[in-house]
Amino acid sequence: MKQLTSEIPNEFRVEPIEQRNYLINGKLFNWKGETADVFSSIQTEVNGERKPTRLGSIPSLGEEESLAAVDAAHQAYERGQGLWPTMNVAARIKCMETFVEKMKEKRELIVKLLMWEIGKNYPDSQKEFDRTVEYIIDTIEDYKTMDRESAKFYKEGGIHAHIRRGPLGVVLCLGPYNYPLNETFCLLIPALIMGNTAVFKPAKHGVLLITPLLEAFQESFPAGVVNILFGRGRAVATPIMKTGKVDVLALIGHSSSANALQALHPKQNRLRLVLGLEAKNPAIILPDADLDLAVSECIAGTLSFNGQRCTALKVIYVHENIAETFNRKYAEAVDALKFGLPWEDGVNLTPLPEPSKPDYIQALIDDAQAKGAEILNEKGGERYENFIWPAVLFPVTKDMNVYKEEQFGPVVPVLTFKHIDEPLDDMAESNYGQQVSLFGKDVKTLAPLIDTLVNLVCRVNLNSSCQRGPDVYPFTGRKDSAVSTLSVHDALRSFSIRTFVASKDNAYNNAILQELLDTKKSNFVSTDYLL
Ligand code: G3H
Repeated sequence: MKQLTSEIPNEFRVEPIEQRNYLINGKLFNWKGETADVFSSIQTEVNGERKPTRLGSIPSLGEEESLAAVDAAHQAYERGQGLWPTMNVAARIKCMETFVEKMKEKRELIVKLLMWEIGKNYPDSQKEFDRTVEYIIDTIEDYKTMDRESAKFYKEGGIHAHIRRGPLGVVLCLGPYNYPLNETFCLLIPALIMGNTAVFKPAKHGVLLITPLLEAFQESFPAGVVNILFGRGRAVATPIMKTGKVDVLALIGHSSSANALQALHPKQNRLRLVLGLEAKNPAIILPDADLDLAVSECIAGTLSFNGQRCTALKVIYVHENIAETFNRKYAEAVDALKFGLPWEDGVNLTPLPEPSKPDYIQALIDDAQAKGAEILNEKGGERYENFIWPAVLFPVTKDMNVYKEEQFGPVVPVLTFKHIDEPLDDMAESNYGQQVSLFGKDVKTLAPLIDTLVNLVCRVNLNSSCQRGPDVYPFTGRKDSAVSTLSVHDALRSFSIRTFVASKDNAYNNAILQELLDTKKSNFVSTDYLL
Protein backbone atom coordinates (compact mmCIF):
# COMPACT_ATOMS: atom_id res chain seq x y z
CA MET A 1 0.00 0.00 0.00
CA LYS A 2 1.53 3.30 -1.08
CA GLN A 3 1.28 6.36 1.15
CA LEU A 4 0.42 9.89 0.25
CA THR A 5 2.40 12.79 1.66
CA SER A 6 0.83 14.16 4.81
CA GLU A 7 2.09 17.69 4.13
CA ILE A 8 -0.98 19.86 4.17
CA PRO A 9 -0.46 23.46 3.07
CA ASN A 10 -1.83 25.93 5.62
CA GLU A 11 -4.37 27.42 3.26
CA PHE A 12 -6.03 24.02 2.82
CA ARG A 13 -6.25 23.01 6.48
CA VAL A 14 -9.70 22.93 8.09
CA GLU A 15 -10.69 23.04 11.74
CA PRO A 16 -13.07 20.26 12.85
CA ILE A 17 -16.73 21.27 12.63
CA GLU A 18 -18.85 19.91 15.47
CA GLN A 19 -22.23 20.64 13.93
CA ARG A 20 -25.11 20.60 16.40
CA ASN A 21 -27.67 22.90 14.78
CA TYR A 22 -30.39 21.90 12.38
CA LEU A 23 -33.05 24.10 10.80
CA ILE A 24 -36.76 23.57 11.27
CA ASN A 25 -39.49 26.17 10.80
CA GLY A 26 -37.01 29.03 10.67
CA LYS A 27 -35.34 28.07 13.97
CA LEU A 28 -31.88 26.66 14.50
CA PHE A 29 -32.26 23.92 17.11
CA ASN A 30 -29.31 22.74 19.16
CA TRP A 31 -29.04 18.93 19.20
CA LYS A 32 -28.12 17.26 22.46
CA GLY A 33 -28.49 13.64 21.32
CA GLU A 34 -26.34 11.14 19.51
CA THR A 35 -23.93 12.38 16.84
CA ALA A 36 -21.97 10.74 14.02
CA ASP A 37 -18.33 11.48 13.29
CA VAL A 38 -17.43 12.65 9.80
CA PHE A 39 -14.15 11.38 8.37
CA SER A 40 -12.19 12.21 5.27
CA SER A 41 -10.71 9.25 3.46
CA ILE A 42 -7.57 11.40 3.15
CA GLN A 43 -5.27 10.00 5.79
CA THR A 44 -3.16 12.04 8.19
CA GLU A 45 -0.83 11.04 11.00
CA VAL A 46 -2.24 10.87 14.52
CA ASN A 47 0.20 9.72 17.23
CA GLY A 48 2.50 8.21 14.63
CA GLU A 49 -0.28 6.27 12.93
CA ARG A 50 -1.89 7.15 9.58
CA LYS A 51 -5.67 7.25 9.79
CA PRO A 52 -8.67 8.77 7.99
CA THR A 53 -8.81 12.41 9.08
CA ARG A 54 -11.62 13.32 11.45
CA LEU A 55 -13.40 16.41 10.10
CA GLY A 56 -16.06 16.82 12.77
CA SER A 57 -19.49 15.47 13.57
CA ILE A 58 -23.17 15.87 12.71
CA PRO A 59 -26.41 15.21 14.61
CA SER A 60 -27.99 11.78 14.15
CA LEU A 61 -31.54 13.05 13.91
CA GLY A 62 -34.44 10.64 14.01
CA GLU A 63 -38.15 10.29 13.51
CA GLU A 64 -39.24 13.10 15.83
CA GLU A 65 -37.12 15.76 14.13
CA SER A 66 -37.96 14.42 10.66
CA LEU A 67 -41.67 14.65 11.34
CA ALA A 68 -41.25 18.15 12.76
CA ALA A 69 -39.42 19.18 9.58
CA VAL A 70 -42.03 17.82 7.18
CA ASP A 71 -44.79 19.37 9.31
CA ALA A 72 -43.01 22.73 9.12
CA ALA A 73 -42.77 22.50 5.32
CA HIS A 74 -46.40 21.38 5.11
CA GLN A 75 -47.48 24.25 7.35
CA ALA A 76 -45.45 26.78 5.35
CA TYR A 77 -47.17 25.57 2.15
CA GLU A 78 -50.46 25.60 4.05
CA ARG A 79 -52.46 23.84 1.34
CA GLY A 80 -51.42 26.51 -1.17
CA GLN A 81 -52.39 29.40 1.08
CA GLY A 82 -48.98 29.90 2.68
CA LEU A 83 -46.99 33.10 2.42
CA TRP A 84 -44.37 31.48 0.16
CA PRO A 85 -46.57 29.79 -2.49
CA THR A 86 -48.77 32.89 -2.80
CA MET A 87 -45.95 35.43 -2.67
CA ASN A 88 -45.44 37.58 -5.76
CA VAL A 89 -42.59 36.66 -8.05
CA ALA A 90 -40.49 39.75 -7.31
CA ALA A 91 -40.55 39.02 -3.57
CA ARG A 92 -39.57 35.36 -4.03
CA ILE A 93 -36.73 36.40 -6.28
CA LYS A 94 -35.55 38.90 -3.66
CA CYS A 95 -35.26 36.05 -1.11
CA MET A 96 -33.23 34.00 -3.58
CA GLU A 97 -30.93 36.95 -4.34
CA THR A 98 -30.35 37.49 -0.63
CA PHE A 99 -29.45 33.82 -0.27
CA VAL A 100 -26.99 33.74 -3.16
CA GLU A 101 -25.16 36.81 -1.81
CA LYS A 102 -24.81 35.18 1.61
CA MET A 103 -23.72 31.91 -0.01
CA LYS A 104 -20.90 33.63 -1.92
CA GLU A 105 -19.35 34.69 1.41
CA LYS A 106 -18.80 31.02 2.31
CA ARG A 107 -16.98 30.05 -0.89
CA GLU A 108 -13.54 29.46 0.58
CA LEU A 109 -14.69 27.15 3.37
CA ILE A 110 -17.10 25.19 1.16
CA VAL A 111 -14.43 24.64 -1.50
CA LYS A 112 -12.01 23.34 1.17
CA LEU A 113 -14.65 21.02 2.57
CA LEU A 114 -15.40 19.66 -0.92
CA MET A 115 -11.73 18.64 -1.16
CA TRP A 116 -11.63 17.04 2.28
CA GLU A 117 -15.02 15.39 2.35
CA ILE A 118 -15.18 13.93 -1.16
CA GLY A 119 -11.61 14.27 -2.43
CA LYS A 120 -12.55 16.48 -5.40
CA ASN A 121 -9.51 18.32 -6.75
CA TYR A 122 -9.12 22.06 -6.17
CA PRO A 123 -10.08 23.34 -9.65
CA ASP A 124 -13.13 21.05 -9.78
CA SER A 125 -14.16 22.01 -6.24
CA GLN A 126 -13.96 25.68 -7.18
CA LYS A 127 -15.90 24.92 -10.34
CA GLU A 128 -18.60 23.11 -8.38
CA PHE A 129 -19.13 26.14 -6.17
CA ASP A 130 -19.02 28.72 -8.97
CA ARG A 131 -21.21 26.65 -11.26
CA THR A 132 -23.81 26.43 -8.49
CA VAL A 133 -23.84 30.19 -7.95
CA GLU A 134 -24.17 30.69 -11.70
CA TYR A 135 -27.00 28.14 -11.77
CA ILE A 136 -28.91 30.10 -9.13
CA ILE A 137 -28.42 33.38 -10.99
CA ASP A 138 -29.49 31.78 -14.30
CA THR A 139 -32.51 30.23 -12.57
CA ILE A 140 -33.61 33.66 -11.34
CA GLU A 141 -33.29 35.07 -14.87
CA ASP A 142 -35.18 32.17 -16.41
CA TYR A 143 -37.93 32.48 -13.85
CA LYS A 144 -38.29 36.17 -14.71
CA THR A 145 -38.62 35.28 -18.39
CA MET A 146 -41.17 32.60 -17.60
CA ASP A 147 -43.11 35.12 -15.54
CA ARG A 148 -42.97 37.75 -18.31
CA GLU A 149 -44.24 35.27 -20.85
CA SER A 150 -47.19 34.40 -18.59
CA ALA A 151 -48.21 38.00 -18.00
CA LYS A 152 -51.02 37.85 -20.55
CA PHE A 153 -54.49 36.54 -21.37
CA TYR A 154 -55.47 34.05 -24.05
CA LYS A 155 -58.92 33.95 -25.62
CA GLU A 156 -60.15 30.73 -27.23
CA GLY A 157 -63.69 29.49 -27.78
CA GLY A 158 -65.13 32.46 -25.90
CA ILE A 159 -63.04 31.82 -22.78
CA HIS A 160 -60.31 34.03 -21.39
CA ALA A 161 -57.42 32.21 -19.76
CA HIS A 162 -54.57 33.49 -17.65
CA ILE A 163 -52.05 30.62 -17.49
CA ARG A 164 -49.01 30.35 -15.23
CA ARG A 165 -46.96 27.63 -13.61
CA GLY A 166 -47.77 26.97 -9.98
CA PRO A 167 -45.94 25.05 -7.22
CA LEU A 168 -46.66 21.42 -6.31
CA GLY A 169 -46.30 21.48 -2.52
CA VAL A 170 -43.71 19.92 -0.23
CA VAL A 171 -40.46 18.66 -1.77
CA LEU A 172 -38.14 16.13 -0.13
CA CYS A 173 -34.72 16.86 -1.56
CA LEU A 174 -31.88 14.33 -1.42
CA GLY A 175 -28.64 14.89 -3.32
CA PRO A 176 -25.63 12.72 -4.20
CA TYR A 177 -22.14 12.63 -2.69
CA ASN A 178 -20.29 13.27 -5.95
CA TYR A 179 -21.83 16.74 -6.40
CA PRO A 180 -23.05 17.38 -2.85
CA LEU A 181 -23.47 21.09 -3.43
CA ASN A 182 -24.21 21.46 -7.12
CA GLU A 183 -26.62 18.65 -7.80
CA THR A 184 -28.49 19.12 -4.54
CA PHE A 185 -28.95 22.82 -5.20
CA CYS A 186 -29.95 22.12 -8.81
CA LEU A 187 -32.97 20.40 -7.23
CA LEU A 188 -33.56 22.63 -4.23
CA ILE A 189 -33.25 26.06 -5.84
CA PRO A 190 -35.74 25.60 -8.71
CA ALA A 191 -38.12 23.83 -6.31
CA LEU A 192 -38.04 26.82 -3.96
CA ILE A 193 -38.26 29.56 -6.54
CA MET A 194 -41.41 28.00 -8.00
CA GLY A 195 -43.09 28.38 -4.59
CA ASN A 196 -42.67 24.88 -3.14
CA THR A 197 -41.44 24.32 0.41
CA ALA A 198 -38.73 21.79 1.19
CA VAL A 199 -37.09 19.37 3.56
CA PHE A 200 -33.50 18.80 2.63
CA LYS A 201 -30.98 16.26 3.92
CA PRO A 202 -27.39 16.54 2.73
CA ALA A 203 -25.64 13.53 1.18
CA LYS A 204 -23.71 11.06 3.35
CA HIS A 205 -20.35 12.33 2.11
CA GLY A 206 -20.22 16.08 1.56
CA VAL A 207 -22.39 16.94 4.53
CA LEU A 208 -20.27 19.37 6.54
CA LEU A 209 -19.97 21.63 3.53
CA ILE A 210 -23.67 22.44 3.84
CA THR A 211 -23.32 23.57 7.47
CA PRO A 212 -21.87 27.04 6.69
CA LEU A 213 -25.11 27.77 4.79
CA LEU A 214 -27.66 27.07 7.52
CA GLU A 215 -27.84 30.67 8.68
CA ALA A 216 -28.04 31.92 5.10
CA PHE A 217 -31.09 29.70 4.55
CA GLN A 218 -32.59 30.80 7.86
CA GLU A 219 -32.12 34.50 7.15
CA SER A 220 -33.13 34.48 3.48
CA PHE A 221 -36.43 32.55 3.44
CA PRO A 222 -39.63 32.72 5.49
CA ALA A 223 -39.98 30.21 8.34
CA GLY A 224 -40.65 26.63 7.24
CA VAL A 225 -39.78 27.16 3.56
CA VAL A 226 -36.43 25.35 3.89
CA ASN A 227 -35.89 22.75 6.63
CA ILE A 228 -32.48 21.09 6.93
CA LEU A 229 -31.88 17.77 8.67
CA PHE A 230 -28.80 15.67 9.36
CA GLY A 231 -28.63 11.95 9.90
CA ARG A 232 -28.87 8.63 8.13
CA GLY A 233 -31.02 8.58 5.00
CA ARG A 234 -33.18 5.75 6.23
CA ALA A 235 -33.76 7.27 9.70
CA VAL A 236 -34.70 10.66 8.27
CA ALA A 237 -36.40 10.02 4.91
CA THR A 238 -38.46 6.94 5.85
CA PRO A 239 -40.76 8.60 8.41
CA ILE A 240 -41.10 11.65 6.18
CA MET A 241 -42.31 9.62 3.19
CA LYS A 242 -44.71 7.61 5.32
CA THR A 243 -46.62 10.77 6.34
CA GLY A 244 -47.88 11.22 2.77
CA LYS A 245 -47.10 14.94 3.12
CA VAL A 246 -44.42 14.88 0.42
CA ASP A 247 -45.66 16.01 -3.01
CA VAL A 248 -42.33 15.75 -4.85
CA LEU A 249 -39.47 13.34 -4.27
CA ALA A 250 -36.39 15.05 -5.72
CA LEU A 251 -33.48 12.65 -5.58
CA ILE A 252 -30.19 12.22 -7.33
CA GLY A 253 -28.77 8.84 -6.45
CA HIS A 254 -29.54 5.19 -6.94
CA SER A 255 -32.82 3.84 -8.33
CA SER A 256 -33.02 1.36 -5.45
CA SER A 257 -33.27 4.28 -2.96
CA ALA A 258 -35.79 6.07 -5.16
CA ASN A 259 -37.94 2.94 -5.47
CA ALA A 260 -37.83 2.21 -1.75
CA LEU A 261 -38.82 5.78 -0.85
CA GLN A 262 -41.66 6.01 -3.39
CA ALA A 263 -43.11 2.78 -2.10
CA LEU A 264 -43.48 4.30 1.37
CA HIS A 265 -45.84 7.05 0.19
CA PRO A 266 -49.42 6.13 1.08
CA LYS A 267 -50.89 7.96 -1.96
CA GLN A 268 -48.47 7.27 -4.77
CA ASN A 269 -50.30 9.19 -7.48
CA ARG A 270 -49.90 12.35 -5.43
CA LEU A 271 -46.15 11.96 -5.56
CA ARG A 272 -44.29 13.64 -8.41
CA LEU A 273 -40.78 12.30 -9.08
CA VAL A 274 -37.74 14.29 -10.12
CA LEU A 275 -34.95 11.73 -10.25
CA GLY A 276 -31.40 11.56 -11.60
CA LEU A 277 -30.30 7.94 -11.32
CA GLU A 278 -27.56 5.59 -12.45
CA ALA A 279 -26.16 5.22 -15.95
CA LYS A 280 -23.70 3.14 -17.91
CA ASN A 281 -22.85 5.59 -20.69
CA PRO A 282 -20.90 3.90 -23.50
CA ALA A 283 -18.24 5.32 -25.79
CA ILE A 284 -18.46 3.90 -29.33
CA ILE A 285 -15.28 4.31 -31.35
CA LEU A 286 -15.77 3.82 -35.07
CA PRO A 287 -12.91 2.71 -37.36
CA ASP A 288 -12.44 6.19 -38.88
CA ALA A 289 -12.33 8.01 -35.52
CA ASP A 290 -9.54 10.45 -34.73
CA LEU A 291 -7.87 8.22 -32.15
CA ASP A 292 -5.92 10.89 -30.30
CA LEU A 293 -9.09 12.87 -29.82
CA ALA A 294 -11.00 9.74 -28.79
CA VAL A 295 -8.31 8.86 -26.25
CA SER A 296 -8.25 12.30 -24.64
CA GLU A 297 -12.06 12.53 -24.51
CA CYS A 298 -12.32 8.98 -23.13
CA ILE A 299 -9.78 9.85 -20.44
CA ALA A 300 -11.89 12.83 -19.36
CA GLY A 301 -15.09 10.85 -19.75
CA THR A 302 -14.02 7.75 -17.85
CA LEU A 303 -11.81 9.19 -15.15
CA SER A 304 -12.68 12.80 -14.27
CA PHE A 305 -13.29 12.73 -10.53
CA ASN A 306 -12.10 9.10 -10.58
CA GLY A 307 -15.11 8.05 -12.66
CA GLN A 308 -17.53 9.05 -9.87
CA ARG A 309 -19.99 10.87 -12.12
CA CYS A 310 -23.36 9.66 -13.27
CA THR A 311 -22.39 10.95 -16.73
CA ALA A 312 -19.02 9.15 -16.73
CA LEU A 313 -18.20 6.85 -19.63
CA LYS A 314 -18.52 3.46 -17.97
CA VAL A 315 -17.88 1.13 -20.89
CA ILE A 316 -15.85 1.56 -24.10
CA TYR A 317 -16.75 -0.17 -27.38
CA VAL A 318 -13.91 0.05 -29.85
CA HIS A 319 -14.05 -1.30 -33.41
CA GLU A 320 -11.86 -4.39 -33.74
CA ASN A 321 -9.77 -2.88 -36.58
CA ILE A 322 -8.45 -0.08 -34.38
CA ALA A 323 -8.66 -1.74 -30.97
CA GLU A 324 -4.96 -2.47 -30.63
CA THR A 325 -3.87 1.11 -31.29
CA PHE A 326 -6.66 2.65 -29.23
CA ASN A 327 -6.03 0.31 -26.28
CA ARG A 328 -2.31 1.03 -26.25
CA LYS A 329 -2.74 4.80 -26.41
CA TYR A 330 -5.57 4.82 -23.89
CA ALA A 331 -3.73 2.57 -21.39
CA GLU A 332 -0.63 4.80 -21.62
CA ALA A 333 -2.75 7.90 -21.07
CA VAL A 334 -4.35 6.34 -17.96
CA ASP A 335 -0.94 5.63 -16.45
CA ALA A 336 0.24 9.16 -17.25
CA LEU A 337 -2.47 10.67 -15.04
CA LYS A 338 -1.36 12.24 -11.78
CA PHE A 339 -2.62 10.85 -8.46
CA GLY A 340 -2.38 12.94 -5.33
CA LEU A 341 -4.13 15.01 -2.72
CA PRO A 342 -6.91 17.27 -4.02
CA TRP A 343 -4.98 20.51 -3.50
CA GLU A 344 -1.83 19.39 -5.34
CA ASP A 345 -1.17 21.04 -8.69
CA GLY A 346 -2.40 19.14 -11.72
CA VAL A 347 -3.86 16.10 -9.93
CA ASN A 348 -6.43 14.11 -11.88
CA LEU A 349 -6.93 11.16 -9.54
CA THR A 350 -7.59 11.52 -5.82
CA PRO A 351 -8.52 9.36 -2.79
CA LEU A 352 -12.04 7.92 -3.00
CA PRO A 353 -14.58 9.21 -0.43
CA GLU A 354 -16.22 5.83 0.18
CA PRO A 355 -14.04 3.67 2.47
CA SER A 356 -15.27 0.45 0.84
CA LYS A 357 -14.80 1.56 -2.78
CA PRO A 358 -11.25 0.29 -3.45
CA ASP A 359 -12.25 -3.22 -2.33
CA TYR A 360 -15.35 -3.11 -4.53
CA ILE A 361 -13.28 -2.05 -7.56
CA GLN A 362 -10.75 -4.76 -6.72
CA ALA A 363 -13.55 -7.33 -6.71
CA LEU A 364 -14.65 -6.17 -10.18
CA ILE A 365 -11.09 -6.53 -11.43
CA ASP A 366 -10.71 -10.01 -9.87
CA ASP A 367 -14.01 -11.17 -11.36
CA ALA A 368 -13.07 -9.87 -14.84
CA GLN A 369 -9.62 -11.46 -14.69
CA ALA A 370 -11.08 -14.78 -13.57
CA LYS A 371 -13.36 -14.66 -16.63
CA GLY A 372 -10.57 -13.90 -19.10
CA ALA A 373 -9.88 -10.15 -19.09
CA GLU A 374 -6.41 -8.67 -18.75
CA ILE A 375 -5.27 -5.42 -17.20
CA LEU A 376 -3.81 -3.42 -20.08
CA ASN A 377 -2.01 -0.72 -18.09
CA GLU A 378 1.00 -1.30 -15.87
CA LYS A 379 -0.32 0.63 -12.89
CA GLY A 380 -3.85 -0.80 -13.11
CA GLY A 381 -4.98 -2.10 -9.72
CA GLU A 382 -2.10 -0.59 -7.66
CA ARG A 383 -3.39 0.20 -4.19
CA TYR A 384 -2.83 3.44 -2.28
CA GLU A 385 -4.54 4.81 0.82
CA ASN A 386 -8.21 4.55 -0.12
CA PHE A 387 -7.44 4.56 -3.80
CA ILE A 388 -6.94 1.99 -6.50
CA TRP A 389 -5.29 2.88 -9.77
CA PRO A 390 -7.76 2.63 -12.68
CA ALA A 391 -7.41 -0.74 -14.38
CA VAL A 392 -8.16 -0.86 -18.12
CA LEU A 393 -9.80 -4.26 -18.54
CA PHE A 394 -9.78 -6.03 -21.91
CA PRO A 395 -11.44 -7.98 -23.48
CA VAL A 396 -14.54 -7.56 -21.36
CA THR A 397 -17.48 -9.91 -21.85
CA LYS A 398 -21.09 -9.66 -20.80
CA ASP A 399 -20.83 -12.20 -18.01
CA MET A 400 -18.41 -9.97 -16.09
CA ASN A 401 -19.70 -7.84 -13.22
CA VAL A 402 -17.80 -4.81 -14.51
CA TYR A 403 -19.94 -4.98 -17.65
CA LYS A 404 -23.21 -5.38 -15.73
CA GLU A 405 -22.76 -2.98 -12.81
CA GLU A 406 -22.41 0.79 -12.67
CA GLN A 407 -18.87 0.87 -11.26
CA PHE A 408 -18.97 4.59 -10.30
CA GLY A 409 -15.23 4.55 -9.73
CA PRO A 410 -11.82 4.00 -11.32
CA VAL A 411 -12.03 0.91 -13.53
CA VAL A 412 -12.61 0.88 -17.29
CA PRO A 413 -14.11 -2.05 -19.22
CA VAL A 414 -13.23 -2.19 -22.94
CA LEU A 415 -15.01 -4.37 -25.51
CA THR A 416 -14.48 -4.71 -29.25
CA PHE A 417 -17.19 -4.85 -31.90
CA LYS A 418 -17.24 -5.95 -35.52
CA HIS A 419 -20.69 -4.68 -36.44
CA ILE A 420 -22.36 -1.57 -35.03
CA ASP A 421 -25.44 -3.61 -34.11
CA GLU A 422 -23.45 -5.14 -31.24
CA PRO A 423 -23.23 -1.96 -29.10
CA LEU A 424 -26.68 -0.87 -30.28
CA ASP A 425 -28.22 -4.17 -29.14
CA ASP A 426 -26.45 -3.88 -25.79
CA MET A 427 -27.74 -0.35 -25.31
CA ALA A 428 -31.28 -1.40 -26.18
CA GLU A 429 -31.09 -4.22 -23.63
CA SER A 430 -29.51 -2.07 -20.93
CA ASN A 431 -31.55 -0.78 -17.98
CA TYR A 432 -29.97 2.62 -18.52
CA GLY A 433 -30.33 5.29 -21.18
CA GLN A 434 -28.65 8.55 -20.29
CA GLN A 435 -25.98 9.50 -22.89
CA VAL A 436 -23.49 8.08 -25.37
CA SER A 437 -20.20 9.30 -26.86
CA LEU A 438 -19.80 8.57 -30.54
CA PHE A 439 -16.39 8.90 -32.19
CA GLY A 440 -16.16 8.96 -35.99
CA LYS A 441 -16.19 11.19 -39.07
CA ASP A 442 -17.99 9.70 -42.06
CA VAL A 443 -21.48 11.20 -42.17
CA LYS A 444 -22.84 8.29 -44.17
CA THR A 445 -22.13 6.09 -41.14
CA LEU A 446 -22.86 8.69 -38.51
CA ALA A 447 -26.26 9.86 -39.80
CA PRO A 448 -28.25 6.62 -39.37
CA LEU A 449 -26.40 5.89 -36.17
CA ILE A 450 -27.30 9.25 -34.64
CA ASP A 451 -30.92 8.73 -35.71
CA THR A 452 -30.99 5.48 -33.72
CA LEU A 453 -28.91 6.54 -30.73
CA VAL A 454 -31.11 9.55 -29.96
CA ASN A 455 -33.92 7.04 -29.39
CA LEU A 456 -31.86 4.94 -27.00
CA VAL A 457 -30.42 7.74 -24.84
CA CYS A 458 -31.08 11.44 -24.32
CA ARG A 459 -27.82 13.00 -25.48
CA VAL A 460 -25.45 11.89 -28.23
CA ASN A 461 -22.03 13.47 -27.75
CA LEU A 462 -20.24 13.61 -31.06
CA ASN A 463 -16.48 13.18 -30.69
CA SER A 464 -16.61 14.26 -27.06
CA SER A 465 -17.10 12.77 -23.61
CA CYS A 466 -20.50 12.71 -21.89
CA GLN A 467 -21.39 15.51 -19.49
CA ARG A 468 -24.28 17.29 -17.90
CA GLY A 469 -23.31 20.86 -18.78
CA PRO A 470 -23.78 23.51 -19.98
CA ASP A 471 -26.59 23.64 -17.44
CA VAL A 472 -29.01 25.28 -19.86
CA TYR A 473 -29.16 22.03 -21.86
CA PRO A 474 -31.62 19.28 -20.92
CA PHE A 475 -30.23 16.72 -18.49
CA THR A 476 -32.31 13.57 -18.39
CA GLY A 477 -32.32 9.88 -19.25
CA ARG A 478 -34.48 6.95 -20.24
CA LYS A 479 -35.35 3.77 -18.32
CA ASP A 480 -33.62 3.54 -14.92
CA SER A 481 -31.47 6.63 -15.57
CA ALA A 482 -33.90 9.45 -14.79
CA VAL A 483 -37.43 10.62 -14.25
CA SER A 484 -38.22 14.12 -15.58
CA THR A 485 -35.78 16.64 -17.00
CA LEU A 486 -33.38 19.05 -15.39
CA SER A 487 -31.76 22.12 -16.91
CA VAL A 488 -32.03 25.69 -15.76
CA HIS A 489 -35.34 25.99 -17.60
CA ASP A 490 -36.64 22.41 -17.45
CA ALA A 491 -36.13 22.20 -13.69
CA LEU A 492 -38.55 25.09 -13.23
CA ARG A 493 -41.08 23.07 -15.22
CA SER A 494 -40.33 19.84 -13.34
CA PHE A 495 -41.07 21.49 -9.98
CA SER A 496 -44.32 23.14 -11.09
CA ILE A 497 -47.55 22.52 -12.91
CA ARG A 498 -49.59 24.59 -15.36
CA THR A 499 -52.55 26.14 -13.61
CA PHE A 500 -54.87 28.89 -14.78
CA VAL A 501 -57.84 31.13 -14.25
CA ALA A 502 -60.56 30.85 -16.91
CA SER A 503 -63.64 33.00 -17.40
CA LYS A 504 -66.30 33.27 -20.09
CA ASP A 505 -65.92 36.36 -22.21
CA ASN A 506 -68.81 38.53 -21.04
CA ALA A 507 -69.16 42.00 -19.58
CA TYR A 508 -69.75 40.72 -16.06
CA ASN A 509 -66.56 38.58 -15.92
CA ASN A 510 -64.46 41.01 -17.91
CA ALA A 511 -65.18 43.81 -15.45
CA ILE A 512 -64.03 41.56 -12.60
CA LEU A 513 -60.84 40.62 -14.44
CA GLN A 514 -60.15 44.28 -15.19
CA GLU A 515 -60.61 45.17 -11.53
CA LEU A 516 -58.32 42.32 -10.45
CA LEU A 517 -55.65 43.72 -12.74
CA ASP A 518 -56.17 47.37 -11.80
CA THR A 519 -56.20 46.84 -8.07
CA LYS A 520 -53.21 44.43 -8.18
CA LYS A 521 -54.80 42.50 -5.35
CA SER A 522 -53.94 39.09 -6.83
CA ASN A 523 -50.35 37.93 -7.18
CA PHE A 524 -51.45 35.31 -9.72
CA VAL A 525 -53.74 37.38 -11.97
CA SER A 526 -51.31 40.03 -13.06
CA THR A 527 -49.98 41.40 -16.32
CA ASP A 528 -47.13 43.29 -14.67
CA TYR A 529 -43.71 42.76 -16.20
CA LEU A 530 -40.60 42.03 -14.22
CA LEU A 531 -37.62 43.44 -16.11
O1 G3H B 1 -23.06 12.76 -11.47
C1 G3H B 1 -23.64 13.23 -12.44
C2 G3H B 1 -23.48 14.65 -12.79
O2 G3H B 1 -24.66 15.24 -13.19
C3 G3H B 1 -22.49 14.83 -13.84
O3 G3H B 1 -22.32 16.15 -14.12
O4 G3H B 1 -21.26 15.83 -16.33
O5 G3H B 1 -21.10 17.99 -15.14
O6 G3H B 1 -19.86 16.00 -14.30
P1 G3H B 1 -21.05 16.51 -15.03
